[in-house]
Amino acid sequence: MSISHKLFGTLPDGRGVDVYTLRNASGVKVRILTYGGAIQQLYIPDRKGCFCDVLGGYDCLDSYVRGDGYQGALIGRVGNRIAKGTFTLDGKEYRMFINNGPNHLHGGEFGFNAKIFDVVATEDTDTPSLSLRYVSPDGEEQYPGTLTVTVTYTLTAENGLRIRYVATTDKKTILNLTNHSYFNLAGYATGSVLDHELYLDADTYLPTDTSLIPTGELRPVANTPFDFTVAKPIGQDIEADNADLTIAGGYDHCFNFRGGASHEPVLRATLYHRESGRKMDVYTNQPCVQVYTGNFLTNEEFPFKGNFAQRPRSFVCLETQHMPDSINHENFTDCTLSPGEVYDYTTEYRFSVE
Ligand code: GAL
Repeated sequence: MSISHKLFGTLPDGRGVDVYTLRNASGVKVRILTYGGAIQQLYIPDRKGCFCDVLGGYDCLDSYVRGDGYQGALIGRVGNRIAKGTFTLDGKEYRMFINNGPNHLHGGEFGFNAKIFDVVATEDTDTPSLSLRYVSPDGEEQYPGTLTVTVTYTLTAENGLRIRYVATTDKKTILNLTNHSYFNLAGYATGSVLDHELYLDADTYLPTDTSLIPTGELRPVANTPFDFTVAKPIGQDIEADNADLTIAGGYDHCFNFRGGASHEPVLRATLYHRESGRKMDVYTNQPCVQVYTGNFLTNEEFPFKGNFAQRPRSFVCLETQHMPDSINHENFTDCTLSPGEVYDYTTEYRFSVE
């Protein structure tokens, strides 16, 4: 229905960061920053038609710059971890920035979450959209190839927030883009997400070592706390006596969708908050989703919007993507991109009430 923008803040180096507001005819509203392409607010209705903001995030730019947790941000070039920050591509060894224990996480020291994206198109229609572009120079954060990434956010008439990622490179490289939004369908300032029911169309998950690097095994979810093939509350089994849950302090695992990547986006996950009736269906053509229950949300220095304190397990992220550390595992999904190929993935978070 409409799209508008204004200045959100100014970086220490003087560059301005804008916030774009997209609204549809049902009153759904989303705010997106040009800094990291971060989704800063998302207002959706409950069963009674009351709107609230269901996303973690901050009120001011400084918290996006200095806070951790990648609130709402685009993640790149490679989402999740690369073991010991090392990989070999076409015989050449790459050594990446180590920023998470012994590993490389979410693109390194200055990942896409810390870049200002250019606005390349906006559409002011029934389905307002915003297209952002970032050209990552060859060798940025040690990744090979000049990478051109265009991310388009569209607010649909059916209350879907669609994110399409398109990328090309001029040298063979690796790539795993995602969005790091934290959801709590009761409202961001309500507390625990453990009462939310989750369904995942995933029959295996990736166990990890103590630094959260996948061991290489694709383990069946059947008869484990990782079985969400029938919807269940996130909290139902989170305290189960299970080594994989203990290592991560909750869910922080890659779930592999049945049949792998699909041509068109299909329904792969549903998050439901029974009390409010808010439901989020996740449609994607990606092969996997990292389910992260916000186990590390403890940073007192950077409270969320409205000065709401960070609390572990108060949100869940459903990061659609390829398998973490896939470049170091032959049996994992292929995250390489070559010149002439087009990386093209879409994830839609579609909201309704039930
Ligand atoms: C997630 C990751 C977590 C944590 C988080 C950021 O994608 O799975 O282990 O690093 O990002 O705090």
